[in-house]
Amino acid sequence: MSQIRNVAVLGSTGSIGRAAIDVLGRMQHSHRVTAISCHSQLQLLEQQIAEVTPTHAIVTQSANAESQRWLSNTNERSPATKRYVGSDAINAIVTGDEVDTVIGAIVGIAGLESAYEAAKAGKRLALANKESLVVAGALIMQSAQESGAEVIPVDSEHSAIFQCLQSCGRKSELKRIILTASGGPLRDWPIDKLEQATVEDALAHPTWQMGRKITVDSATMMNKALEVIEAKWLFGLESEQIHVVIHSQSIIHSMVEYCDASVIAQLSPPDMRLPIQYALTYPQRDQASSPAMDWSVPMRLDWKPVDPERYPCLQLGYEVAAKGGSCGAVLNAANEACVELFLDRKIKLTDIAKICRSVLNHHHFSPSPSLTELLQLDRWSRNEVQNWITGL
Ligand SMILES: NC(=O)c1ccc[n+]([C@@H]2O[C@H](COP(=O)([O-])OP(=O)(O)OC[C@H]3O[C@@H](n4cnc5c(N)ncnc54)[C@H](OP(=O)(O)O)[C@@H]3O)[C@@H](O)[C@H]2O)c1
Repeated sequence: MSQIRNVAVLGSTGSIGRAAIDVLGRMQHSHRVTAISCHSQLQLLEQQIAEVTPTHAIVTQSANAESQRWLSNTNERSPATKRYVGSDAINAIVTGDEVDTVIGAIVGIAGLESAYEAAKAGKRLALANKESLVVAGALIMQSAQESGAEVIPVDSEHSAIFQCLQSCGRKSELKRIILTASGGPLRDWPIDKLEQATVEDALAHPTWQMGRKITVDSATMMNKALEVIEAKWLFGLESEQIHVVIHSQSIIHSMVEYCDASVIAQLSPPDMRLPIQYALTYPQRDQASSPAMDWSVPMRLDWKPVDPERYPCLQLGYEVAAKGGSCGAVLNAANEACVELFLDRKIKLTDIAKICRSVLNHHHFSPSPSLTELLQLDRWSRNEVQNWITGL
């Protein structure tokens, strides 16, 4: 890579954002961090400003006196960094000439607008924020096609599929993809005990250290439901071509199966720095930022089918992937609202699938909604969840 690429890390204080800053710290020969953003972790953002000396730093939580005070601070290690409060600044920066690559690592629907703007502006979008594709996959992929933007997945499963698809086989020869799922922290609990799961139980993931929202999604397997929808948009697949298996070791990150029954898998120790780095360097590879497999120790790899009774959320993902239109926005918003309620200890973990099913079933379906309609549906769906719990 001859030219230095300028990168905006959106959500730099989160689990993916911090891993991205680490990866970029080792790639100063080819990449520079131009912009970083957080929502409310001002102290951590300040440390990152000192560490990476970005041109721009943004705090998205605007209705807050602390954010306003932060605006007038100066960082001794990086006095030239320009400071902004509010998400409009993110959109202006990601679409500007100073940024070539956008790492979309904001959590939830809050990451949608910047991802869409980056796709419209023809940037490389290294996308961790799966929710934006779940809600507006049709709009984002269409915009990327029109502008020439590259949407490269950071989600480990989709990075694995993306890598496997580079290796061999034509699209017409692809039979299906196999997404692997860890099964989450409650995978060995008796099904009739799942409704007793506490917030602490749901957050104790055995293999991945992630943000709270995605960790709860992993416990319900809504994460895999969202990934089924994400895969449909990223790879242009029918829902029947997307298969999910439980693979508790999280070493095989996903696989592709061709028409001749050959299966290509991508393996590596569970560490998000690898898919982040690949999304930055693709189509090339760089020296590893994360540990390699240790072939000197014995290891076995297991997989098993998903039990639909244990994970009812997965079926919702398949239904939404098959139907498309407004369904993704409604499911995503209902799930985000439910996860917040669960983390606030207001509903049970097992209520999440029931509430999402109820909200999805009675929404007014629209086959090709605009962004404005999708955002309206997002609000409608969150209200419905509130109504559901008030009726409890
Ligand atoms: N973690 C993983 O291993 C992993 C793997 C695959 C995909 N993903 C996806 O990557 C995304 C980020 O996940 P994560 O685990 O890194 O989440 P996280 O640790 O909770 O971090 C979320 C980031 O988004 C920022 N943020 C929160 N609310 C925001 C808002 N309203 N507006 C703008 N920024 C906001 C946070 O800022 P503050 O820190 O200031 O709150 C933080 O920087 C999610 O879409 C997730 O599904 C994550």
